[in-house]
Amino acid sequence: MDDLLEKELKRPSLIKNPRILDLKYLPKKLLHREDEQRMLIKYFKPIIENSGKYSQNVTIVGPVGTGKTAIALKFGEMIKVYSTQKSINLEYVHVNCRRARSSFLTILEIARKFNPNIPVKEFKPDEIINMLVNLLNQRNSFLIITLDEIDFIIQKEGSDFLYDLTRLTDDELDEKERISLITIARESEFRKLLDDSTLSTLRQNIISLVPYNEDQLRDIVKDRANEAFYGDAVSAEAIDLISDITSKKGDARFAIELLERAGMYADHKQSLKVLPEHVRHANTLVHPIIRQEIVTDLTKKQQIILLATAKQLLSTNKAYVTLADVKTVYKELCKDYKLPISEHAQILEYLQHLEYCNLIAIKYSKKKKQQTLISLLDVSAEIIKKTIMEQL
Ligand SMILES: Nc1ncnc2c1ncn2[C@@H]1O[C@H](COP(=O)(O)OP(=O)(O)OP(=O)(O)O)[C@@H](O)[C@H]1O
Ligand SMILES: [Mg+2]
Repeated sequence: MDDLLEKELKRPSLIKNPRILDLKYLPKKLLHREDEQRMLIKYFKPIIENSGKYSQNVTIVGPVGTGKTAIALKFGEMIKVYSTQKSINLEYVHVNCRRARSSFLTILEIARKFNPNIPVKEFKPDEIINMLVNLLNQRNSFLIITLDEIDFIIQKEGSDFLYDLTRLTDDELDEKERISLITIARESEFRKLLDDSTLSTLRQNIISLVPYNEDQLRDIVKDRANEAFYGDAVSAEAIDLISDITSKKGDARFAIELLERAGMYADHKQSLKVLPEHVRHANTLVHPIIRQEIVTDLTKKQQIILLATAKQLLSTNKAYVTLADVKTVYKELCKDYKLPISEHAQILEYLQHLEYCNLIAIKYSKKKKQQTLISLLDVSAEIIKKTIMEQL
């Protein structure tokens, strides 16, 4: 066995820098998004040039993998460099609301960037917002906050907290404007939310991203491959195939995942190049509909509940399964994975979280009023099962 390990570790790889294939890696240049980046800068020009005088709210919407997060992060990077060069106190903070889980934890995460010692338990959300403003006042700093995947919190809690954050500056007219916002949401979710009158302030400055076309995806993949792989390790045909496959959705995230998996498979096959066959193989492993990171970000207990739902759906071949049956499978899984069994209320909480993540749908039986029914959205139970088994 030792030999095998040593051999595997020593085997050369086509991938020069695996970190670059990580979806979180921010490329040096965002291709085909110059107009949108320029638009964002234009919206923030008054804040950059006259910090304290104005505040701004901009929303970036678009389907999965269209560069929403990347554009905001790139903007944040530019702001940091600019502020240092010009010695101005304009700062940038990027928070993912889905990962933070609630508005309270989102605001806490932001405030902790300025004071890491704020305890969790002692404050209410509006108290933390005030604390954040006080911290900014003390430092005489101005802040651009990106609330990424904001739709998750609005779906769960409504838009009150967003209202508090935007109104904050309106109320204190003689005070300096300390906080500006970039909110990011999936297009479909955002349209549903637009009716809400408290969101009217967000309706004005919208940057709407459209899916990438095949040529744009080819450029994005080529650029990433050049950075991540040795020489011309990825064949032009493989890049063509990736852009062809992913152009149906125009999703750069899917394209980069395919590139990474194809590279790993080519390594596994000890090939000297990444070839179309490796892409085809990778395509059977990567599922554009299920975002790997959404499943990775779940707690183990939430993953087990999701797995129990998938297993029960598979074994019954029904569209909906009952909560009672899911609980039975869940208990067996807890035993298998040596995890404590959660209380009913807790299980309901996990299920609700899965619903907010758009992984499952919950409804109540018309025939039997008390009965809770669970189903999977879009994704096949088999894929969910496979994805979670890989994680556990
Ligand atoms: N224009 C681009 N040029 C280079 N790389 C890009 C570009 N757009 C997106 N990417 C890369 O594609 C991946 C997905 O992009 P990003 O995370 O910004 O998508 P998103 O719109 O935020 O998706 P989601 O809705 O799933 O959060 C990232 O790794 C990002 O670096
Ligand atoms: Mg994103």
